[in-house]
Amino acid sequence: MLCVAPDGCDAQPRRGPSPELPEVSGVADRESLLIAFRLQVGGCSLFGSPFYSELMQKAYDDVEAGGRVGELLATWQGDPVRGFLPLRLFGAVHDHVLAGHAPELARYYPTAGGRADADAAWPAFEAVVAQYAADIAPRLEHFPQTNEVRRCAGLLGGFLEIAERTALPLRHYALGPHTWGDRSSPVGISTDWSGAEPCMSARIEIESRAGCDLAPRRIDDHDDARVLESFVWADQPDRLEELRAAIELAKQDPPRVEEARARDWLPAELAAPAKGLCRVVFHSSLWLYLERDEQNEIRDMLTQQGARATRDQPLAWLRHEDGAVAGTVEIRLTRWPGGEERLLGMGHPHGRRVKWHGR
Ligand SMILES: C[S@@+](CC[C@H](N)C(=O)[O-])C[C@H]1O[C@@H](n2cnc3c(N)ncnc32)[C@H](O)[C@@H]1O
Repeated sequence: MLCVAPDGCDAQPRRGPSPELPEVSGVADRESLLIAFRLQVGGCSLFGSPFYSELMQKAYDDVEAGGRVGELLATWQGDPVRGFLPLRLFGAVHDHVLAGHAPELARYYPTAGGRADADAAWPAFEAVVAQYAADIAPRLEHFPQTNEVRRCAGLLGGFLEIAERTALPLRHYALGPHTWGDRSSPVGISTDWSGAEPCMSARIEIESRAGCDLAPRRIDDHDDARVLESFVWADQPDRLEELRAAIELAKQDPPRVEEARARDWLPAELAAPAKGLCRVVFHSSLWLYLERDEQNEIRDMLTQQGARATRDQPLAWLRHEDGAVAGTVEIRLTRWPGGEERLLGMGHPHGRRVKWHGR
Protein backbone atom coordinates (compact mmCIF):
# COMPACT_ATOMS: atom_id res chain seq x y z
CA MET A 1 0.00 0.00 0.00
CA LEU A 2 1.29 3.41 -0.89
CA CYS A 3 0.04 6.14 1.40
CA VAL A 4 0.04 9.75 0.38
CA ALA A 5 -1.26 12.32 2.79
CA PRO A 6 -1.83 15.93 1.94
CA ASP A 7 -1.11 17.62 5.27
CA GLY A 8 0.99 14.65 6.27
CA CYS A 9 2.57 14.05 9.61
CA ASP A 10 4.22 17.41 10.10
CA ALA A 11 7.47 15.61 10.55
CA GLN A 12 10.02 17.02 8.18
CA PRO A 13 12.17 20.11 7.77
CA ARG A 14 10.98 23.09 5.82
CA ARG A 15 12.28 23.44 2.30
CA GLY A 16 12.32 26.61 0.27
CA PRO A 17 9.96 29.52 0.63
CA SER A 18 6.56 29.09 2.23
CA PRO A 19 3.65 28.60 -0.19
CA GLU A 20 1.19 31.42 0.20
CA LEU A 21 -1.70 31.14 2.60
CA PRO A 22 -5.22 31.44 1.23
CA GLU A 23 -6.08 34.87 0.00
CA VAL A 24 -7.16 37.25 2.70
CA SER A 25 -8.52 40.68 2.19
CA GLY A 26 -8.37 43.50 4.66
CA VAL A 27 -8.12 43.86 8.37
CA ALA A 28 -10.41 41.65 10.47
CA ASP A 29 -13.38 43.70 11.63
CA ARG A 30 -14.43 43.62 15.26
CA GLU A 31 -17.73 41.85 14.61
CA SER A 32 -15.97 38.97 12.81
CA LEU A 33 -13.44 38.75 15.61
CA LEU A 34 -16.25 38.48 18.13
CA ILE A 35 -17.95 35.75 16.10
CA ALA A 36 -14.65 33.85 15.88
CA PHE A 37 -14.26 33.92 19.66
CA ARG A 38 -17.91 33.08 20.27
CA LEU A 39 -17.58 29.99 18.07
CA GLN A 40 -14.52 28.86 19.99
CA VAL A 41 -16.25 29.38 23.33
CA GLY A 42 -18.83 26.85 22.12
CA GLY A 43 -16.34 24.54 20.40
CA CYS A 44 -14.04 24.23 23.40
CA SER A 45 -16.97 23.61 25.70
CA LEU A 46 -18.45 20.99 23.35
CA PHE A 47 -15.17 19.12 23.00
CA GLY A 48 -14.21 18.88 26.64
CA SER A 49 -12.17 21.98 27.37
CA PRO A 50 -14.11 24.08 29.89
CA PHE A 51 -10.96 26.01 30.82
CA TYR A 52 -10.27 27.16 27.24
CA SER A 53 -13.96 27.87 26.77
CA GLU A 54 -13.91 30.25 29.74
CA LEU A 55 -10.63 31.84 28.64
CA MET A 56 -12.05 32.29 25.13
CA GLN A 57 -15.03 34.06 26.69
CA LYS A 58 -12.66 36.39 28.49
CA ALA A 59 -10.83 37.07 25.24
CA TYR A 60 -14.22 37.79 23.65
CA ASP A 61 -15.00 40.28 26.44
CA ASP A 62 -11.59 41.86 25.94
CA VAL A 63 -12.12 42.31 22.20
CA GLU A 64 -15.54 43.79 22.87
CA ALA A 65 -14.08 46.21 25.40
CA GLY A 66 -11.13 47.12 23.13
CA GLY A 67 -8.58 45.57 25.51
CA ARG A 68 -5.07 44.22 24.90
CA VAL A 69 -6.09 41.11 23.01
CA GLY A 70 -8.39 43.13 20.78
CA GLU A 71 -5.58 45.60 20.17
CA LEU A 72 -3.15 42.86 19.14
CA LEU A 73 -5.66 41.28 16.75
CA ALA A 74 -6.98 44.53 15.32
CA THR A 75 -4.38 44.66 12.56
CA TRP A 76 -4.58 40.97 11.59
CA GLN A 77 -5.42 40.60 7.92
CA GLY A 78 -8.04 38.07 6.91
CA ASP A 79 -11.17 36.29 8.02
CA PRO A 80 -10.79 35.44 11.72
CA VAL A 81 -13.53 32.82 11.57
CA ARG A 82 -12.24 30.79 8.61
CA GLY A 83 -8.68 31.45 9.75
CA PHE A 84 -9.41 30.19 13.28
CA LEU A 85 -7.67 33.25 14.69
CA PRO A 86 -8.55 32.51 18.34
CA LEU A 87 -6.82 29.11 18.03
CA ARG A 88 -3.76 30.79 16.53
CA LEU A 89 -3.63 33.24 19.44
CA PHE A 90 -4.15 30.61 22.11
CA GLY A 91 -1.52 28.39 20.45
CA ALA A 92 1.00 31.23 20.45
CA VAL A 93 0.41 31.98 24.15
CA HIS A 94 0.52 28.27 25.04
CA ASP A 95 3.87 28.03 23.25
CA HIS A 96 5.28 30.60 25.70
CA VAL A 97 3.86 28.63 28.62
CA LEU A 98 5.36 25.34 27.40
CA ALA A 99 8.69 27.06 26.73
CA GLY A 100 8.80 28.18 30.37
CA HIS A 101 8.54 31.89 29.52
CA ALA A 102 5.29 32.44 31.39
CA PRO A 103 5.53 30.93 34.89
CA GLU A 104 2.61 32.93 36.28
CA LEU A 105 0.24 31.71 33.55
CA ALA A 106 1.69 28.18 33.77
CA ARG A 107 0.24 27.96 37.31
CA TYR A 108 -3.18 27.67 35.66
CA TYR A 109 -2.27 25.50 32.64
CA PRO A 110 -2.65 21.76 33.35
CA THR A 111 -0.34 20.96 30.41
CA ALA A 112 2.39 22.76 32.37
CA GLY A 113 1.49 21.12 35.66
CA GLY A 114 -0.89 23.87 36.80
CA ARG A 115 -4.51 23.84 37.96
CA ALA A 116 -7.12 25.12 35.50
CA ASP A 117 -8.65 28.36 36.75
CA ALA A 118 -9.73 30.78 34.05
CA ASP A 119 -10.48 33.69 36.41
CA ALA A 120 -7.02 33.53 37.93
CA ALA A 121 -5.37 32.84 34.57
CA TRP A 122 -6.81 35.77 32.65
CA PRO A 123 -4.64 38.61 34.07
CA ALA A 124 -1.57 36.44 33.46
CA PHE A 125 -2.79 35.65 29.93
CA GLU A 126 -3.16 39.37 29.21
CA ALA A 127 0.30 40.01 30.63
CA VAL A 128 1.83 37.38 28.29
CA VAL A 129 0.03 38.94 25.32
CA ALA A 130 1.41 42.36 26.29
CA GLN A 131 4.95 41.16 27.03
CA TYR A 132 5.32 38.91 23.97
CA ALA A 133 3.19 40.79 21.44
CA ALA A 134 6.13 41.08 19.04
CA ASP A 135 6.67 37.28 19.10
CA ILE A 136 3.01 36.42 19.00
CA ALA A 137 2.11 38.58 15.98
CA PRO A 138 4.12 36.55 13.40
CA ARG A 139 2.76 33.29 14.85
CA LEU A 140 -0.74 34.52 14.00
CA GLU A 141 0.15 34.27 10.31
CA HIS A 142 0.30 30.47 10.50
CA PHE A 143 -2.59 28.04 10.27
CA PRO A 144 -3.45 26.15 13.42
CA GLN A 145 -1.61 22.82 13.38
CA THR A 146 -3.61 20.74 15.77
CA ASN A 147 -2.17 17.28 15.26
CA GLU A 148 -4.46 14.87 17.01
CA VAL A 149 -3.02 11.39 17.36
CA ARG A 150 -6.33 9.73 18.21
CA ARG A 151 -7.78 10.60 14.81
CA CYS A 152 -5.74 7.61 13.68
CA ALA A 153 -8.36 5.34 15.24
CA GLY A 154 -10.99 6.09 12.62
CA LEU A 155 -8.34 6.22 9.92
CA LEU A 156 -7.13 2.78 10.93
CA GLY A 157 -10.64 1.42 10.48
CA GLY A 158 -10.49 2.84 6.96
CA PHE A 159 -7.06 1.38 6.25
CA LEU A 160 -8.22 -2.03 7.44
CA GLU A 161 -11.24 -1.70 5.20
CA ILE A 162 -9.03 -0.83 2.22
CA ALA A 163 -6.37 -3.39 2.88
CA GLU A 164 -8.00 -6.65 3.82
CA ARG A 165 -5.39 -8.49 1.74
CA THR A 166 -2.09 -6.88 2.72
CA ALA A 167 -0.31 -6.56 6.07
CA LEU A 168 1.98 -4.47 8.21
CA PRO A 169 1.64 -4.40 11.95
CA LEU A 170 1.99 -0.70 12.70
CA ARG A 171 1.30 0.38 16.24
CA HIS A 172 -0.96 -0.66 19.05
CA TYR A 173 -4.57 0.47 18.82
CA ALA A 174 -7.49 -0.16 21.13
CA LEU A 175 -10.70 0.39 19.21
CA GLY A 176 -13.08 -0.10 22.11
CA PRO A 177 -12.96 -3.87 22.68
CA HIS A 178 -10.86 -4.47 19.56
CA THR A 179 -7.09 -4.24 19.79
CA TRP A 180 -4.66 -4.04 16.92
CA GLY A 181 -0.93 -3.63 16.45
CA ASP A 182 2.11 -3.90 18.69
CA ARG A 183 1.00 -3.82 22.32
CA SER A 184 4.46 -2.77 23.47
CA SER A 185 4.43 0.36 21.33
CA PRO A 186 4.96 3.59 23.31
CA VAL A 187 1.94 5.02 21.49
CA GLY A 188 -1.33 3.43 22.48
CA ILE A 189 -4.33 4.85 20.69
CA SER A 190 -7.50 4.23 22.56
CA THR A 191 -10.96 5.23 21.46
CA ASP A 192 -14.51 4.50 22.43
CA TRP A 193 -15.54 2.30 19.48
CA SER A 194 -19.15 1.39 18.87
CA GLY A 195 -21.19 -0.08 16.03
CA ALA A 196 -19.77 -2.58 13.58
CA GLU A 197 -16.46 -4.33 14.11
CA PRO A 198 -13.61 -3.07 11.92
CA CYS A 199 -11.96 -5.62 9.58
CA MET A 200 -9.61 -6.78 12.34
CA SER A 201 -8.25 -9.68 10.34
CA ALA A 202 -7.14 -7.54 7.39
CA ARG A 203 -3.38 -7.31 7.00
CA ILE A 204 -1.95 -3.90 6.18
CA GLU A 205 1.39 -3.61 4.48
CA ILE A 206 2.73 -0.11 3.90
CA GLU A 207 5.01 0.09 0.88
CA SER A 208 5.84 3.77 1.36
CA ARG A 209 4.50 6.92 3.00
CA ALA A 210 4.67 10.53 1.99
CA GLY A 211 2.84 13.72 2.86
CA CYS A 212 2.79 17.45 2.45
CA ASP A 213 1.87 20.42 4.59
CA LEU A 214 1.94 24.19 4.11
CA ALA A 215 4.37 24.39 7.02
CA PRO A 216 5.78 21.02 8.04
CA ARG A 217 7.44 21.07 11.44
CA ARG A 218 10.83 19.62 12.25
CA ILE A 219 9.98 17.23 15.01
CA ASP A 220 13.65 16.82 15.91
CA ASP A 221 13.80 20.54 16.72
CA HIS A 222 12.38 21.40 20.18
CA ASP A 223 11.04 24.81 19.21
CA ASP A 224 9.38 23.51 16.06
CA ALA A 225 7.88 20.47 17.79
CA ARG A 226 6.56 22.78 20.51
CA VAL A 227 4.53 24.65 17.89
CA LEU A 228 2.57 21.43 17.37
CA GLU A 229 2.23 20.93 21.12
CA SER A 230 0.99 24.48 21.60
CA PHE A 231 -2.23 23.80 19.69
CA VAL A 232 -3.36 21.18 22.19
CA TRP A 233 -5.91 22.71 24.56
CA ALA A 234 -4.22 23.39 27.86
CA ASP A 235 -6.63 21.46 30.07
CA GLN A 236 -6.28 18.27 28.00
CA PRO A 237 -2.85 16.99 29.05
CA ASP A 238 -3.69 13.46 27.88
CA ARG A 239 -3.70 14.74 24.30
CA LEU A 240 -0.34 16.43 24.84
CA GLU A 241 1.15 13.23 26.26
CA GLU A 242 -0.03 11.25 23.25
CA LEU A 243 1.31 13.81 20.83
CA ARG A 244 4.71 13.82 22.54
CA ALA A 245 4.83 10.02 22.47
CA ALA A 246 3.87 10.00 18.78
CA ILE A 247 6.56 12.59 17.99
CA GLU A 248 9.19 10.46 19.74
CA LEU A 249 8.05 7.41 17.80
CA ALA A 250 7.93 9.27 14.48
CA LYS A 251 11.55 10.39 14.99
CA GLN A 252 12.62 6.75 14.67
CA ASP A 253 11.24 6.48 11.15
CA PRO A 254 10.09 9.86 9.89
CA PRO A 255 7.94 9.87 6.79
CA ARG A 256 8.73 12.16 3.87
CA VAL A 257 6.71 15.33 4.41
CA GLU A 258 7.21 18.13 1.93
CA GLU A 259 6.35 21.77 2.19
CA ALA A 260 3.62 22.21 -0.39
CA ARG A 261 0.00 22.95 -0.98
CA ALA A 262 -2.00 19.74 -1.37
CA ARG A 263 -3.23 20.50 -4.88
CA ASP A 264 0.30 21.25 -6.11
CA TRP A 265 1.85 18.23 -4.47
CA LEU A 266 -0.61 15.47 -5.34
CA PRO A 267 -0.26 15.31 -9.15
CA ALA A 268 3.35 14.11 -9.20
CA GLU A 269 2.71 11.66 -6.37
CA LEU A 270 -0.26 10.18 -8.20
CA ALA A 271 1.60 10.01 -11.49
CA ALA A 272 4.32 7.74 -10.07
CA PRO A 273 3.92 4.11 -11.18
CA ALA A 274 2.37 1.91 -8.51
CA LYS A 275 1.71 -1.43 -10.18
CA GLY A 276 0.68 -4.05 -7.63
CA LEU A 277 -0.01 -1.38 -5.02
CA CYS A 278 -3.12 0.28 -3.73
CA ARG A 279 -2.50 4.01 -3.57
CA VAL A 280 -4.28 5.56 -0.60
CA VAL A 281 -4.70 9.31 -0.47
CA PHE A 282 -5.78 10.20 3.07
CA HIS A 283 -6.24 13.30 5.14
CA SER A 284 -7.75 14.37 8.43
CA SER A 285 -8.83 17.79 9.56
CA LEU A 286 -7.54 19.38 6.37
CA TRP A 287 -10.56 19.86 4.14
CA LEU A 288 -12.05 22.79 6.04
CA TYR A 289 -8.80 24.72 5.61
CA LEU A 290 -8.91 24.47 1.83
CA GLU A 291 -10.45 27.07 -0.42
CA ARG A 292 -13.38 25.72 -2.45
CA ASP A 293 -11.38 25.75 -5.70
CA GLU A 294 -8.61 23.64 -4.13
CA GLN A 295 -11.18 21.15 -2.84
CA ASN A 296 -12.71 20.88 -6.32
CA GLU A 297 -9.34 20.52 -7.96
CA ILE A 298 -8.34 17.67 -5.65
CA ARG A 299 -11.67 15.91 -6.12
CA ASP A 300 -11.37 16.21 -9.92
CA MET A 301 -7.77 15.03 -9.87
CA LEU A 302 -8.69 11.92 -7.89
CA THR A 303 -11.69 11.21 -10.09
CA GLN A 304 -9.52 11.42 -13.20
CA GLN A 305 -6.83 9.21 -11.66
CA GLY A 306 -9.56 6.88 -10.46
CA ALA A 307 -10.86 6.48 -14.01
CA ARG A 308 -7.45 5.05 -14.93
CA ALA A 309 -7.26 2.77 -11.88
CA THR A 310 -7.28 -0.98 -12.38
CA ARG A 311 -7.59 -3.98 -10.08
CA ASP A 312 -3.80 -4.16 -10.25
CA GLN A 313 -3.34 -0.52 -9.47
CA PRO A 314 -6.34 0.62 -7.46
CA LEU A 315 -6.80 4.00 -5.83
CA ALA A 316 -8.48 4.84 -2.52
CA TRP A 317 -9.38 8.19 -0.98
CA LEU A 318 -9.83 8.03 2.78
CA ARG A 319 -10.81 11.08 4.79
CA HIS A 320 -11.53 11.93 8.39
CA GLU A 321 -13.19 15.29 8.09
CA ASP A 322 -15.95 17.47 9.49
CA GLY A 323 -19.35 15.95 8.90
CA ALA A 324 -22.72 17.31 7.94
CA VAL A 325 -23.79 17.14 11.59
CA ALA A 326 -22.07 19.93 13.54
CA GLY A 327 -19.49 18.66 16.01
CA THR A 328 -18.97 15.30 14.29
CA VAL A 329 -16.54 13.92 11.76
CA GLU A 330 -17.27 11.50 8.97
CA ILE A 331 -14.85 8.79 7.91
CA ARG A 332 -15.45 8.37 4.19
CA LEU A 333 -13.86 6.10 1.65
CA THR A 334 -13.99 6.20 -2.14
CA ARG A 335 -12.41 3.35 -4.06
CA TRP A 336 -11.47 2.98 -7.69
CA PRO A 337 -11.96 1.24 -10.05
CA GLY A 338 -15.61 1.93 -9.71
CA GLY A 339 -15.54 5.09 -7.63
CA GLU A 340 -17.89 3.74 -4.99
CA GLU A 341 -18.10 6.10 -2.00
CA ARG A 342 -19.05 4.90 1.45
CA LEU A 343 -19.54 6.52 4.83
CA LEU A 344 -17.56 4.09 6.97
CA GLY A 345 -18.18 5.76 10.29
CA MET A 346 -18.73 8.91 12.27
CA GLY A 347 -17.01 10.19 15.32
CA HIS A 348 -15.60 12.84 17.59
CA PRO A 349 -13.31 15.42 15.95
CA HIS A 350 -10.44 14.47 18.25
CA GLY A 351 -11.01 10.74 17.79
CA ARG A 352 -12.32 10.11 21.29
CA ARG A 353 -15.33 8.20 19.90
CA VAL A 354 -15.96 6.34 16.67
CA LYS A 355 -19.25 4.82 15.56
CA TRP A 356 -18.47 2.39 12.78
CA HIS A 357 -20.92 1.52 10.05
CA GLY A 358 -18.46 -0.71 8.22
CA ARG A 359 -19.83 -2.34 5.12
C1 LIG B 1 -5.66 20.82 11.94
S1 LIG B 1 -4.12 20.37 11.21
C2 LIG B 1 -4.43 18.64 11.02
C3 LIG B 1 -3.21 17.80 11.24
C4 LIG B 1 -3.40 16.29 11.15
N1 LIG B 1 -3.78 15.86 9.83
C5 LIG B 1 -4.43 15.78 12.14
O1 LIG B 1 -5.51 15.38 11.75
O2 LIG B 1 -4.15 15.78 13.34
C6 LIG B 1 -4.31 21.00 9.57
C7 LIG B 1 -3.02 21.02 8.79
O3 LIG B 1 -3.35 21.29 7.42
C8 LIG B 1 -2.30 22.06 6.86
N2 LIG B 1 -2.83 22.69 5.65
C9 LIG B 1 -3.74 23.68 5.57
N3 LIG B 1 -3.98 23.95 4.27
C10 LIG B 1 -3.23 23.11 3.51
C11 LIG B 1 -3.06 22.90 2.11
N4 LIG B 1 -3.71 23.63 1.24
N5 LIG B 1 -2.21 21.95 1.71
C12 LIG B 1 -1.53 21.19 2.60
N6 LIG B 1 -1.65 21.34 3.94
C13 LIG B 1 -2.49 22.30 4.39
C14 LIG B 1 -1.95 23.02 8.00
O4 LIG B 1 -0.65 23.57 7.81
C15 LIG B 1 -2.04 22.11 9.22
O5 LIG B 1 -0.81 21.51 9.54
